[in-house]
Amino acid sequence: MPEKQSVSQERFLQPTKNLQESLQGIYERNKIKIGPDGRQKKLIHPDVRRNTFAVVGGALGDEGKGRFVDNLNETLLEKRGIDKIWTVRFQGGNNAGHTIEKDGQVLKLHLIPSGVFYDDAIGIIDTGVVVHPEDLVTEINYVEDAVGNITNRLILSESAILVTDLERAEEKLNNARAGKSRGGTGRGIGPAYAHHLDRRGNLIRDLLSGGWKKTFADKYDQYEKDFAAYGLSLEEIEVPDYAATLKTGVEQKRAVGGKIKFLKRLENARSWVLDAEITQNTLPLHHTIFEDRRHAVVFEGAQAAGLDAWVGTRPDVTSSNTRSYGISEGTRFWKRENLEEVIAVIKVPYTSSVGSRRMPTHVDLPKDKGGLPLPLPENATYEQKWAEWVREEAHEYGTTTGRARDINHLDLEFIRYSLRMSGADSVAVTHLDVAREEDVIKVCTHYEDEGGQTVFYEPDLERLRTVIPSYVELPGWDGQKAQSAKKAKDLPDNSRKFLAFLQDRLGYPIVAATTGPSRENFVSFRKS
Ligand code: IMP
Repeated sequence: MPEKQSVSQERFLQPTKNLQESLQGIYERNKIKIGPDGRQKKLIHPDVRRNTFAVVGGALGDEGKGRFVDNLNETLLEKRGIDKIWTVRFQGGNNAGHTIEKDGQVLKLHLIPSGVFYDDAIGIIDTGVVVHPEDLVTEINYVEDAVGNITNRLILSESAILVTDLERAEEKLNNARAGKSRGGTGRGIGPAYAHHLDRRGNLIRDLLSGGWKKTFADKYDQYEKDFAAYGLSLEEIEVPDYAATLKTGVEQKRAVGGKIKFLKRLENARSWVLDAEITQNTLPLHHTIFEDRRHAVVFEGAQAAGLDAWVGTRPDVTSSNTRSYGISEGTRFWKRENLEEVIAVIKVPYTSSVGSRRMPTHVDLPKDKGGLPLPLPENATYEQKWAEWVREEAHEYGTTTGRARDINHLDLEFIRYSLRMSGADSVAVTHLDVAREEDVIKVCTHYEDEGGQTVFYEPDLERLRTVIPSYVELPGWDGQKAQSAKKAKDLPDNSRKFLAFLQDRLGYPIVAATTGPSRENFVSFRKS
């Protein structure tokens, strides 16, 4: 964290317009054209296929995107008279997690698109997704135990990228080579995508083909040799055990095991997938969906722009294109310009992050070596006390690891960059209830260098270490009152002003907010 911080005295009381008016203003600037006759025309680009949406992470992940996918599905079915919704995962793997509520039950999903819970929705795990077959089968069984059959509403692309225990073991080897953990989730995501690009990786269809056993037996032998060269026994390398983790609720591991065990596990998953008939060539399917205007599509992003392989802030990035542009490579059909709207989700009034990166607006909170929180020192600053409260209130802990996430002041310079890179049309915010009336909320509006010159966000920690965040201080609001709001007008005044301020500074319309953990803690700012 830079030592010098210029806290501007600028108070934000200037955007007094109500949020909906302000929203309409920005929305109209983007979507409405005023003709020479002075009449307004709705601008729909000829490339746009109506009723297609993407929900992507606008910051550093774990924003709570699932809620907006859920709400979109509901709106599309109820208000737009859609017959069927296709909910599509296009990147990432089970390194992602989204929590959904179904019939009063809370389910944690990793690979299955959340839309699959609607009777009129079909989930597609598409070509750009990394799939561990055993984990997929475990996840389907877990969900079906809770809510009944979903297999008939789930499609797995036969060209999805395959990850096995071998790539997961390889992730460990890469850590050993580097002499330290390189920060992956242990799900083999990095090696699987790396081999996809270096043309050595396997696809789901390699597992389904008649010659699968030889392919994977040979692969095991090769990995065994590679590990032996480093004095390691492949058989003994520990990899995540998702089935045991589900049972205990705490991350469990098991050994890769010998070749016979490895092949047996794959064979079981292969038989299950073949029997369930969930695999398909998804490309012709997309042609059909595109043509049938009674169908809607919701693309569910995993991770976020700040974790993107190309524009994310290294080292704690993932290995896929997490942005709406990744939909092309992940589906091999849709282009960004086809989408009616890309909604990027951000947390407010703070940002949380995992991993070793320190963002410019980071607030230092003491942790032990394992990432567990330590008590604040007696001379803790106001900011540290605020950040600790946020962390506890919003339960900012890794779902499987229990490690405390970092808390950063909301950083509009970073968010502007991320929204641009996301290809966002609009923004949805979460955690509007994580606020207190007595707090002063610090928001970074821009960065300056030592000489007072404005500098832009760049995804480069070395450069970011030299920037000086410039803050404004905004008054807090009653989080409980925000939580009970059903409509925008019921939100605490200061929270509405805060959102109007964000809209202004970001230049994107804010279309919805979540205000608490349950499904009904949701406020839409749209008129329809
Ligand atoms: P990997 O995607 O498992 O290779 O992990 C690479 C980095 O991305 C690690 O720092 C992870 O903590 C981070 N990461 C991966 N998925 C997520 C996510 O869904 N939320 C937040 N961070 C993530």
